[in-house]
Amino acid sequence: MSAIGDHLRLLGDETRLRVLHLLESEPLTVAELQDVLDLGQSSISGHLAKLKQAGLIHDLPEGSARRYRIREDAEARLRSAWSSVRDLSRQEAQFASDARRLSDQLRNRGTSWVDRVAGSLHREYAPGRTWESLCHGLQAFARFGRCIDVGAGDGAMIELIAPQADSLTCIDPSPAMVAAGTAKVKALGLDSVRYILAPGEQLPLEDASCDAVLFLQSLQYIADPAAALGEAARALAPGGRLLVITLLKHDFAEANRYGHRHSGFAPEELKRWTRTLAGHRTVTLPAETRPPRFQTVILTAVKSVDAGRPRRSAK
Ligand SMILES: C[S@@+](CC[C@H](N)C(=O)[O-])C[C@H]1O[C@@H](n2cnc3c(N)ncnc32)[C@H](O)[C@@H]1O
Repeated sequence: MSAIGDHLRLLGDETRLRVLHLLESEPLTVAELQDVLDLGQSSISGHLAKLKQAGLIHDLPEGSARRYRIREDAEARLRSAWSSVRDLSRQEAQFASDARRLSDQLRNRGTSWVDRVAGSLHREYAPGRTWESLCHGLQAFARFGRCIDVGAGDGAMIELIAPQADSLTCIDPSPAMVAAGTAKVKALGLDSVRYILAPGEQLPLEDASCDAVLFLQSLQYIADPAAALGEAARALAPGGRLLVITLLKHDFAEANRYGHRHSGFAPEELKRWTRTLAGHRTVTLPAETRPPRFQTVILTAVKSVDAGRPRRSAK
């Protein structure tokens, strides 16, 4: 890890700050930077190389050129040093005039933002296009039926799930979480939601009594995750669905701070513990941008409609 002095020296150069302010507003090529900064190509390339070597920016090929952008996953102290310098210097005349020049040039070229980000929109910031907004929107199409949330905590997800469920049973072994969740349910006036104080390893539920069982970042807290998943499979009715959102296997000591009992799980392990179910699907998400860069793994599976039916004996 670089010393903070190295970070401040990197950010102590006026031209590099001009480059960073421009890249903060949008990813640019050397030619586009040249047009705005009115400096030689070698000077700009030299500054870009230093910023890239420090890990604050990166570049991706685009035709015969390369497009530079600020790294979301830059080392935490460097990223926060840049954020502070950026906020302190944003209003300075030089940077404000560079920003105006950039937008004039892009307008004169007749390229709209939409045209420029075609093919790379998934990497770009687009106002309002958050995972949260997408999740709230897609949730309207979900149907959870009789739903169980195992390790529901204090009900942070209740407002997302309850409207799409016929009933929602929140299960958690922490008296503090159950008390906070129960108070929330009462405050929201959600008659279809109830809390039960119990561990996931011993679900107080009848066999085949629910349509969806969810484990939302709770499996890593459960002492015996295989037993809890076995309980979920038992409680699901034929056709019922299991959703596990948990952490991928990792070796980050930071997990201790959050009281995890397990350092994440391998997808194969999750499948093995739910082998009585069918239609398994696992998705591993990209690493988080925030250090230490945990990764999430999602497992979905279905209880076969034949489950529980007496098998015909072979003749
Ligand atoms: C990070 S919280 C997740 C809360 C909630 N699912 C959410 O996404 O906001 C993890 C929860 O797992 C619960 N937990 C711990 N041991 C458990 C067990 N054996 N069975 C079920 N839940 C457990 C904790 O009490 C805590 O509320």
